[in-house]
Amino acid sequence: MLIIHHPDELSEHLLRFKKQKQSIGFFPTMGALHSGHLSLLHAAQKLTDISVCSIFVNPTQFNNADDLAKYPRTLEQDIALLEKEGCDVLFLPESEELYALEKPMDLNFGGLATYFEGASRPGHFSGVARVVRLFFDCVMPDHAFFGLKDFQQCMIIRSMTEQLGLSIQLHFEPTLREKDGLAMSSRNVRLSSEQRGFAPIIYQALQQAKNSYSKKSVLAIEEEAKALIEERKGLRVDYFQLADARTLEPLHDNDEQAEAVALAAVYAGDVRLIDNLLLK
Ligand code: PAJ
Repeated sequence: MLIIHHPDELSEHLLRFKKQKQSIGFFPTMGALHSGHLSLLHAAQKLTDISVCSIFVNPTQFNNADDLAKYPRTLEQDIALLEKEGCDVLFLPESEELYALEKPMDLNFGGLATYFEGASRPGHFSGVARVVRLFFDCVMPDHAFFGLKDFQQCMIIRSMTEQLGLSIQLHFEPTLREKDGLAMSSRNVRLSSEQRGFAPIIYQALQQAKNSYSKKSVLAIEEEAKALIEERKGLRVDYFQLADARTLEPLHDNDEQAEAVALAAVYAGDVRLIDNLLLK
């Protein structure tokens, strides 16, 4: 696996592949890699000639300095995993060098960034869009891969790609879960053993919401889910809400929706876990 630190070096290398008509598949990460990340690599390998991963803990998307400081960093292990799985290129930029390449952009995400992570983490999606745009400019991939675990992030990236008129094909991959249903996440390693034991209730609450969807009111579904999660000591619901899966507008009882998604964010101590499930 080729490991590249400098953006200009990366573009130069990838240009060589492009001249040979090889397609590029890219998936950005913040490291502490797990099987969920690797599923993006495998999707890229299936579809494209050259797989490119980036590992960069992006400071502009953290609105909480403590969360940024505590974000797990396991670079050596990550490199070994990517090598073993046959990733072709790993991009490890430095913040200053990457952000020096930034061009102004004027994006409007409308309602997509208003609720859920947008409301709970002000500035988060602007940071995500900034860094993903920088990566897209450096890598110029044919295909880019993201996980539906971060459902709202997928919608934001789709909107950004459309607004900028980029010809990158986006792929949104299903959420990989632990055997007990907990969505895989780099943050899971920060859970105490008690918190780890309780955390799968989030997925159970999402499944309960799915089962109740055509039977109960939206409000009742949300309240039942919150109560179920908060019965577990140390878990606190930031939000558990049903939304239109295309616009991410919160659902109300009188909405006749073709597609609905339940979105959840839960604090286990100071660790914030997010998950979601399509209901219809
Ligand atoms: P990170 O949390 O490292 O996730 C990198 C990619 O892996 C994202 O597309 C995310 O949705 C996907 N992913 C995470 N957990 C997953 C799971 N359990 N199953 C499937 N896919 C999963 O998301 C980010 O980093 C950053 O915001 C980033 C896009 C890299 C920009 O900094």
